[in-house]
Amino acid sequence: MKKVTKAVFPVAGLGTRFLPATKANPKEMLPIIDKPLIQYAVEEAIEAGITDMIFIIGRNKRAIPDHFDMAYELETELELNGKTELLKIVQNIIPKHINCIYLRQAQALGLGHAVKMAQPVVNDEPFAVLLADDLLDAQVSVIKQMVDVYQAHQCSVLGVQNVPREQTKSYGIVATNPIDARLEQVTAIVEKPKPENAPSTLGVVGRYILTPRIFHYLDQIQPGAGGEIQLTDAISALLAEEKILAYRYDGVRYDCGSKQGYLEATIRLGLRHPECGSNLKALMEKIVNEEKFS
Ligand code: UTP
Repeated sequence: MKKVTKAVFPVAGLGTRFLPATKANPKEMLPIIDKPLIQYAVEEAIEAGITDMIFIIGRNKRAIPDHFDMAYELETELELNGKTELLKIVQNIIPKHINCIYLRQAQALGLGHAVKMAQPVVNDEPFAVLLADDLLDAQVSVIKQMVDVYQAHQCSVLGVQNVPREQTKSYGIVATNPIDARLEQVTAIVEKPKPENAPSTLGVVGRYILTPRIFHYLDQIQPGAGGEIQLTDAISALLAEEKILAYRYDGVRYDCGSKQGYLEATIRLGLRHPECGSNLKALMEKIVNEEKFS
């Protein structure tokens, strides 16, 4: 029985919804309070026992390797100035036993194309895919929950949630047969269907456990919705051959690829932040009152 020890982080998208912030900086480096989105996703994977982090990077993504690398000058400076707490934070961004691997997607041809880039490193093992712009806030890391489902069922697992019907065109949507309260067997999957054509309102979020057979189909599929090589289309082809499960994860998702989701994550996580939570609450009350009277 193979264990899931590898996670793929496709971070080569153009991030157009966040321009101009993403012109020279990757979307995944946008911070929620004091941590970039990509670090939340990497921490989620570490909690699941994953040890190999494979980043699919594109142009303007240098900041991601830099973030996970040692920063000699900064560390020396913090040490000299006796800022030991900050030094610890910088040094503990990634534990020593974790390997970071960077692969390049020369052209942003789509999520499926980005995942395909990971094949030489993933080889014939099951692997996780995490889209860092989906921030998943949970007691138990969502990708850990899904790795547990994989261990029990030995097949691909898609993280899903119910979405409003008018939003189906922003998601991969699955048709399913229920198994239990959290698990469903996938019978079909379509990328970004119009609300009237969507087979359900169960949308795939940015968390996947995939069997390596997916690479075979990623090789074969043609550009789909939006002219991009879609991971959803390869999953649809894989369905003819292998069982695939949809898993209703236990947690809250913030779509940080959209401005609204990003702001909500900042406020919700900010309110719980030990350093600024109580001040933020007071500030928000003040703002709400002022807005009411203006
Ligand atoms: P999105 O659909 O969110 O696209 O990609 P995007 O380019 O990042 O953002 P917008 O829509 O233009 O604002 C979903 C995920 O797939 C990655 C992105 O980095 C994101 O994590 N991706 C997408 C790639 O790595 N390569 C691609 O060619 C496309």
